[in-house]
Amino acid sequence: MYICVCNGVTDSQIRQAAEAGCRTMSELTMRTGAGANCGSCVEAATALLDEAQVRRSLPLPMLSQAA
Ligand code: FES
Repeated sequence: MYICVCNGVTDSQIRQAAEAGCRTMSELTMRTGAGANCGSCVEAATALLDEAQVRRSLPLPMLSQAA
């Protein structure tokens, strides 16, 4: 799904950027171009970045049980 229509950036591209280390909207803009024009995608893109960060911070229950 396109999140940034101006620059053709999809939700999966934003998730990939987050996995590759993007933590802020500024970093995402530099990497993908999302948010560089009208800015109407910034809220949705930020939510995707936040979601990815929460996912990274959650413990991996299967790994902790395996140890
Ligand atoms: S929709 Fe992303 S900058 Fe316009």
